[in-house]
Amino acid sequence: MKVSATALFLTSALPTVLAWGNLGHETIAYIASNFVSSETETYFQKVLGNTSTSYLAGVATWADTYKYTSAGLYSKPYHFIDAQDDPPSSCNVDYDRDCGSSGCVVAAIQNYTSIMQDSSSSDSDLDMAAKFLVHFIGDIHQPLHDENLDYGGNDIDVKFGSTSTNLHHIWDTNMPEKYADGYTLADAENWAQNLTTEIKTGAYKSQAASWLKGMNISDPVASSMGWATDSNAYVCSTVMPDGISPLENTDLSGDYYTTALPVIQLQFAKAGYRLAAWLDLIATGKTDL
Ligand SMILES: *[C@@H]1O[C@H](CO)[C@@H](O)[C@H](O)[C@H]1NC(C)=O
Ligand SMILES: *[C@@H]1O[C@H](CO)[C@@H](O)[C@H](O)[C@H]1NC(C)=O
Ligand SMILES: *[C@@H]1O[C@H](CO)[C@@H](O)[C@H](O)[C@H]1NC(C)=O
Ligand SMILES: *[C@@H]1O[C@H](CO)[C@@H](O)[C@H](O)[C@H]1NC(C)=O
Ligand SMILES: [Zn+2]
Repeated sequence: MKVSATALFLTSALPTVLAWGNLGHETIAYIASNFVSSETETYFQKVLGNTSTSYLAGVATWADTYKYTSAGLYSKPYHFIDAQDDPPSSCNVDYDRDCGSSGCVVAAIQNYTSIMQDSSSSDSDLDMAAKFLVHFIGDIHQPLHDENLDYGGNDIDVKFGSTSTNLHHIWDTNMPEKYADGYTLADAENWAQNLTTEIKTGAYKSQAASWLKGMNISDPVASSMGWATDSNAYVCSTVMPDGISPLENTDLSGDYYTTALPVIQLQFAKAGYRLAAWLDLIATGKTDL
């Protein structure tokens, strides 16, 4: 059996409030790089000091490492918004109720968007803000990053095949890695290529434009609250449609996985497409998507 580097790292040392695993963040970043305009690509390649095709994917997980450093501890709450709703009967996100005094992913998207737009930002401020945005626009599309219950599902013990883990972790990592059958940058690029095709000519073609509805670069809070609300709705419909008890200590690698996978694919596609449009708006003030 192939053992994920992420999983090993996790069980050995780290606290468990995480984001999409590396595979998810990198897939989303590659989708975005497939859709940004060439002007946007040039701009962000310069900001990030990397002219390879992996200029976004290569920095997509930096924020998950940074938050465990002493310099980066402050950024830990920026990876989620703890919706205090009541799944599965009621899902909703409220900025004033849920963002919290130490910040949240919605406030962070606002903050780093405004740093990108501020002409007095230094090169290193821009570099950091770009890395944060590539990551946080991924995080906000993981339904359990928009949920307070049981620490976003971190405290709900489940099994995935023979692995004992938790509900949050299977959404971040086990389910995406099962589908891709790996977790390398090349696996992410391959998955992104497929989802890019689905957006351009396939299953998502007719809905992609609707994913950008309500997006307003002058109002990052309203824009990202729309994304959070959209993601949080899947907590009620797909993540725990019958509540927690049927999931506890249950192997979710069968039917549960089969039902979850289309939502994971859709959320990756939306995240990548929205990230592309957001980066276009930052770099050029417009997007052709
Ligand atoms: C650009 O990013 C890729 C992917 O992370 C990395 O392999 C490469 O070394 C980077 N290039 C530079 C000049 O940093
Ligand atoms: C905005 O970003 C800066 C730089 O990372 C950080 O010091 C500050 O705490 C952030 N503020 C908010 C409200 O997120
Ligand atoms: C990509 O699409 C091909 C052809 O449909 C399929 O065989 C492959 O499994 C897909 N790979 C990923 C990672 O989605
Ligand atoms: C975008 O947000 C700004 C700032 O809140 C607002 O003034 C403007 O009307 C919004 N534009 C649209 C199209 O909603
Ligand atoms: Zn994260």
